[in-house]
Order: sequence, then C-alpha cells, then structure tokens
Amino acid sequence: MNILVLGSGGREHTFAWKIAQSPLCKNLYVAPGNSGTAAIATNVDIGVTDFDAIKELVLDKQIDMVVVGPEDPLVQGVHDYFLNDEAIKHVSVIGPQKIAAQLEGSKEFAKEFLFRHNIPTAAYESFTKDTVEKGCIFLETLNPPYVLKADGLAAGKGVVILNDLNEAKAELKSMLVDSKFGNASSKVVIEEFLDGIELSCFVLTDGENYKILPTAKDYKRIGEGDTGLNTGGMGAVSPVPFATDDFLNKIEERIVKPTVEGFKKDNLPYKGFVFIGLIKVGDDPKVIEYNVRMGDPETEVVLPRLKNDFVEILQAIANGTLNKIDLEIDKRAATTIMLVSGGYPEAYEKGKEITGIDAITESIPFHAGAQLKEGKVVTSGGRVISITSYGNTYQEAIKKSYQSIEKLHFDKMYYRKDIGFDL
Ligand code: AMP
Ligand code: GLY
Repeated sequence: MNILVLGSGGREHTFAWKIAQSPLCKNLYVAPGNSGTAAIATNVDIGVTDFDAIKELVLDKQIDMVVVGPEDPLVQGVHDYFLNDEAIKHVSVIGPQKIAAQLEGSKEFAKEFLFRHNIPTAAYESFTKDTVEKGCIFLETLNPPYVLKADGLAAGKGVVILNDLNEAKAELKSMLVDSKFGNASSKVVIEEFLDGIELSCFVLTDGENYKILPTAKDYKRIGEGDTGLNTGGMGAVSPVPFATDDFLNKIEERIVKPTVEGFKKDNLPYKGFVFIGLIKVGDDPKVIEYNVRMGDPETEVVLPRLKNDFVEILQAIANGTLNKIDLEIDKRAATTIMLVSGGYPEAYEKGKEITGIDAITESIPFHAGAQLKEGKVVTSGGRVISITSYGNTYQEAIKKSYQSIEKLHFDKMYYRKDIGFDL
C-alpha cells in the first residue's frame, strides 16, 4: 500500500523509519518531512493543515493510508475532512476525529471527560474573562504552587506554575483579560498541584480494542537537573524503571480501560494513538493530560522497541482488528538524546551544517529540525536531531548515545548531559 505521514519532526522520521521496514508498504511519502525522511521516503512540500493540498496528493499518488504525526491537523479535523469527501473517504486516517481530538485541543474538555469517567486526575475549576474574580477567589482556597492552564493549544507553552498567590492572580488576568495566549487562553483551567514523578503511557486504539505500548519518560526542561525553560523534549528513556508491573496494572485498570470505554460511551470516534501524560503520586498514577498523538521524542524510544510490523498494526487500527495483534516488545532499553540549536527554546540560528551523521554506527540518528540544502544536511529548527540507542540497561543505552554524539557537530550544538539522572 501507499502511505503518507504528515509532519516533519523526529517523531515523523521514526514513523517513516518503521513503516519503511514493512513489506506491506510500497510507496512512502512524508509531508513536509525533513532530511531524515528524504533518505527513506519521498518528501512533499505541503503543510500539515493544508487539507486541500493533502487531498490532491492522496489522489495523485493513490495513497491508501494517512498517518498523522502532530496534533494540529487532528484538532482542525483532518480525519473528518477525509470522511466527508466521497473521493477520499476510503483512505484510512490514523488519528482521532475532531470531536475526540478535543481531548488535547481543550484542557476543560479533557478534565470533564476524566471526571465523567472517574479517572484519577487533579481537582480543577475553569474560568473565563467574566469569572476572573471568582478565579482569584478560587486561587485563595488552594495551596501553592498554583497550576494555570490555557484551555486551547498554545504550542506547549500554555501551562504556568507559580508559587506566589499574587503572581498567580496576575497571570490569570493576563491569560483571560489580556489574551496572553490569544484565543487559547479565553478559558483557563486552574488545577490542584500534583507532586510526583512524571511518565508517559502510549495506547493504540481502534475505538473498540486497545494495546498498550511501552512506557517512556521525557525530559522537558532545557537545563540539566530539570531546570530552565520548558522545551518540546530534550531526551527520553524507555521503559521507565519505576513503572513496576503493579504500577502498570494500576495504569491499565484505573486509566487506560476507562479511557477507551469513555470514548465509546461518549461517542468519540478514535482510531489512533493516545498519549497519556501521568504523574506518580505516592504509589498511584494520575492523569496530567491527554495528547491525541505520539510524543516527541518519546516516539524515538518507543517505536524502536516495537518488533511488530508497524503497518500491520496501523491497518488493524484502521480496520478495528487490534484485538488480533500481539505486541512484541524488545526487552532492551532504548534512550534518545536530543541535540538542539544553541538558544532554543528562545531565539536560535538556523542553516548550520551538520557533519558526522554518517559516522554514527552504534545509534540511530532521527532527524527533527534538519533539512537538505544543496546536498548538505543543515539545521532548520530548535530541536535538530535525536540520537537513539539500545542497551541491556538504560545506563548502557545512554552511554552509547553520548559516544555517538561525539562524532556529530554543528555550530552552537547543545544537549543535556544528564538524561536519566533522576531514575
Ligand atoms: P500539560 O501541558 O498539561 O502536560 O502540562 C505541562 C507540564 O506541567 C506537565 O508535564 C507537568 O510537568 C506540569 N503540570 C501540569 N499539570 C500539573 C499539575 N496538576 N500538578 C503538577 N504539575 C503539573
Ligand atoms: N514530549 C512531549 C510531547 O510530545 O508533548
């Protein structure tokens, strides 16, 4: 079959890498893709939310399946766009329909879903411009730190955690009244702070059945020791060493099962990946957030541990036959270290030549913000390339990634040297 992957990051390079290994895939396209996908698929320069151009490509190349990487097209309804068009409704789209994608597109929608289905999560209330004073009074009833979340998509920046009550009140006003995050903060969810260690659980569902992929933990802060600004993710480890069988069982029974049952009860059509952001409070898992896609860079450690034919799994998701699949997971650990442009997540330069990629033999370099230019691989984003390695232990895998990184170079390259430090 012919397959199109939407996106251009490390996650999409990993999808393409895994799909390209399948004998079921004839032609593979990535839109818009990067220098990594260019080497194993055909890149097509189309934006991920340009649905009309995507349709044209799908018809032109006789594409049978579209695998959606990022959340934006899902929240904007790419799956519904296909279903509502006679010419392309036969094409399988991997990703939930728009109404279900609100689980990521609206924090309030997600919180209501969690409470409706008795899934453990932080207590909350939500507020608008008209109820900002009530929001301030609610903040007074909470203990610090205060967690404020813009309701809509805010490019990963919409969550603000503050220790000072007055600062929290000022932040609430700035979000609601001064539209700090534009339309995304026209509503704000204020949450109880949960204290614990975070991990992510990835679930495949065809809307009826589910399969749980390996857990992973990512490192979001730019600085070592988890300090400094939030990023998209600076590295990841799979499996998560503290996720014991007993703890995984709690995640499945208390969170995964009621989530998939909730999709059915609420008529939320869902064929795709569910990324459940969790926090371990004491010995119990609680949901921090839902994402309706895979994580990045978690994908770069989760998919390399999956031994199955990935296209077979994607077909089972599309056809509602996920119950017939047995996941085979590599026992080894996988880790990834993200190399970023100096300055990221604030201003940084692009267009720096990356050298040494071909010298890497013991790890897999997944390209993110990297593009081909005049035959050279150059930086084109903040997160540039993610170096994944296997090991019998995560320590061994991390060591391999750091050794591989020694061979790579680009001007102002930065990476965290402490991935896994807290495990
Ligand atoms: P989110 O976008 O909802 O994942 O939030 C971003 C980050 O903020 C999470 O990864 C957590 O580190 C933190 N966070 C969100 N909600 C809470 C909470 N209720 N308690 C503690 N930390 C939180
Ligand atoms: N690494 C976190 C995310 O993909 O949202």
